[in-house]
Amino acid sequence: MAYKRYKAAWLNKYPAIEDLRIKAQKRIPNVAWQYLETGTGQELCLRRNQAKLNQYTLTPQFCKGPLHPETKVHLFGSNYDFPFGIAPIGLSGLIWPRSECFLAETAQRNNIPYTLSTVATETPEMVADYISSPNAWFQLYPPKLEKDKKDILRRVWNAGFRTLLVTADVPTPSRRERAIRAGFSRSPSITPSFVWQGVKRPQWSIATLKNGLPKLKTIAPYASGADGESVANYLKENMRGSLTWEYCKILREEWKGNLVLKGIMDKQDAIKAASLGFDGILVSNHGGRQFDGAPAAIEVLADIRKVVPSDVKILFDSGVRSGLDVLKAISLGADFVLLGRAFMYGLAGLGVFGGDHVIEILRQDLLNNMTQLGIESLNALKLID
Ligand SMILES: Cc1cc2nc3c(=O)[nH]c(=O)nc-3n(C[C@H](O)[C@H](O)[C@H](O)COP(=O)(O)O)c2cc1C
Repeated sequence: MAYKRYKAAWLNKYPAIEDLRIKAQKRIPNVAWQYLETGTGQELCLRRNQAKLNQYTLTPQFCKGPLHPETKVHLFGSNYDFPFGIAPIGLSGLIWPRSECFLAETAQRNNIPYTLSTVATETPEMVADYISSPNAWFQLYPPKLEKDKKDILRRVWNAGFRTLLVTADVPTPSRRERAIRAGFSRSPSITPSFVWQGVKRPQWSIATLKNGLPKLKTIAPYASGADGESVANYLKENMRGSLTWEYCKILREEWKGNLVLKGIMDKQDAIKAASLGFDGILVSNHGGRQFDGAPAAIEVLADIRKVVPSDVKILFDSGVRSGLDVLKAISLGADFVLLGRAFMYGLAGLGVFGGDHVIEILRQDLLNNMTQLGIESLNALKLID
């Protein structure tokens, strides 16, 4: 595997996700960087996510002799090598061209899930060349129009995606002030400022010239025109504010694969989703990008686990930056954890094998901290006070 060629040098140079974050900022234009990094409003929720994860502690036990920690997990009837996967990132082709294909390939190679966003810059059919079930997951922004919903579900199923995450926490676009200041738009166009930023980031520019400006290719066929503005309008008018419990109920009947409700922070919402037959609930505040007044996702995790039947899986994201963070989430009741920005830092910072390096950092950190804690299985974490 080609990542092996870089592994030793990269582990010395970039031993933590934070190193990749710093590297990524230097390789991509400011507008793409601000789009990736920003939270909503004053970014209180964004900061709260990590602050609360940092505050939470785990108490180690010792004198257990040599330990052989196991990171494999069983989820939705499949085995994955690690208890984490890649969260959906819309417009990720702006952050690094062909992100979706590279990260899908990385996920397949390492046997973890990759979630393709509805607002991706590659289609499910294209990404299916790099990944297959059970590693291929799809995130749905719920279309208002029945015929569009049915068509997207049909395409995604035919492309081999079997796990569907429907996003609940975007009732309306959020105000991301930092991205606005940087001149971000969902349909990037060539402005003098964009060109100047590109000049300063030659690797990104060359890759973008080869692939063209990123477009929301999955939903483009449903918009009134192929231009960026028509697609952005379609998104605003047809995929925002459309989700209701009735919609969820019908979706459960329509989707024969695993169904997860993404962006749940409230116990009653979690109970309702479980009662409708969702296979999983993703406790998340969208990485602090939607509602600045929300609690940190880690703060609500344990209470949600308590009220949801044990056969319904609890997934978690928002603020995870290390293997230790993954362990903390599992100890509070998560069955599986997703990371969004961390994988984009890897890819933007190091290119094609950057996602592999993120996995390697997380793998080493998981194994090391499991040994420090005195546990061999992830299930043992749930017994730690
Ligand atoms: C740049 C960016 C784009 C995102 N796009 C989507 C999306 O299209 N659909 C979605 O459900 N969540 C989206 N999310 C939220 C992520 O799926 C995930 O919930 C979040 O990134 C987790 O927080 P983390 O970045 O701290 O790991 C996006 C997040 C970021 C940072």
